[in-house]
Amino acid sequence: MSRPLPICYLNGTCLPLEQARVSPLDRAFLFGDAVYEVIPVYGGRPFRLREHLHRLDRSLAGIRMPPPLSHGEWAAVCADLLARNGAGDAYLYLQVTRGAEHGRSHSWPDGLRPTLFAYASELEPLAGKLVEEGVSAVTAEDTRWARRDIKSTALLANVLLKRLAVDAGAFETILLEDGALTEGSSTTVHVVKDGILRTPPNGRHILPGTTRDVVTELAARMGLPSASEAVPEALLREADEIWLAFSTRGVLPVTRLDGRPVGGGRPGPWYARMHAAFLAYIRELAGTPAL
Ligand SMILES: Cc1ncc(COP(=O)(O)O)c(C=O)c1O
Repeated sequence: MSRPLPICYLNGTCLPLEQARVSPLDRAFLFGDAVYEVIPVYGGRPFRLREHLHRLDRSLAGIRMPPPLSHGEWAAVCADLLARNGAGDAYLYLQVTRGAEHGRSHSWPDGLRPTLFAYASELEPLAGKLVEEGVSAVTAEDTRWARRDIKSTALLANVLLKRLAVDAGAFETILLEDGALTEGSSTTVHVVKDGILRTPPNGRHILPGTTRDVVTELAARMGLPSASEAVPEALLREADEIWLAFSTRGVLPVTRLDGRPVGGGRPGPWYARMHAAFLAYIRELAGTPAL
């Protein structure tokens, strides 16, 4: 889907991605003991960088690691990667692992040196078809762990859940728990019903999505009332519109859920306005400092 750009960052050095090496004893490899961020870049400018770095710090605190770099230092790494790769529209991937050690002990020893890895990838232009026709989604029981607010690289459950969508020829798997919506396997889910935009409240059961906050802010600007509250499965299934929000694609409309049309089976009128507002917001930020 997207192509990694040639120069990456590893532990303080920029080097060709092809030459980057980490130890197989790194705890990210053995235990998934790591956190990460994915930051969209439009016209060479990281989008909502402050919010992404704030969430990275939050994820690190969640796994009991101090931030290895300040926000200014991360911003410099991002700028360096974008400059070296000549990146325009792209996304940045940042990963912090607890580091390599020799004992493979579940509880980590003190004093490990974290592994810091970052690379940039091309962001393919958003296919007009996705916006004009929408995407399909299937539903599944949310089988993930109890700390989904931590953006951990331990993504096996998400990976298996996403595969259910692919197997069904769909774009995303929308997850349900105890009869209510949580989120998508890699997206925040918003629902429009009777002129109100709803998304489940943040908490340990979902990732605090950065795009979700943009959607909420833009909804307020557009005069679309929004509520951060539980979304029962019945409301999801009766929705006028369903949207997926995520960093690499912004906001996409879901027009089929489990094979049935959502609303009129076409992207809804609020989606058209949200999509336009999102693009306008990106243009509005162009040329302003990323941090
Ligand atoms: C499980 C999950 N929820 C929500 C999101 C959306 O978060 P963001 O808008 O910050 O990309 C993601 C993004 O990867 C995700 O993996």
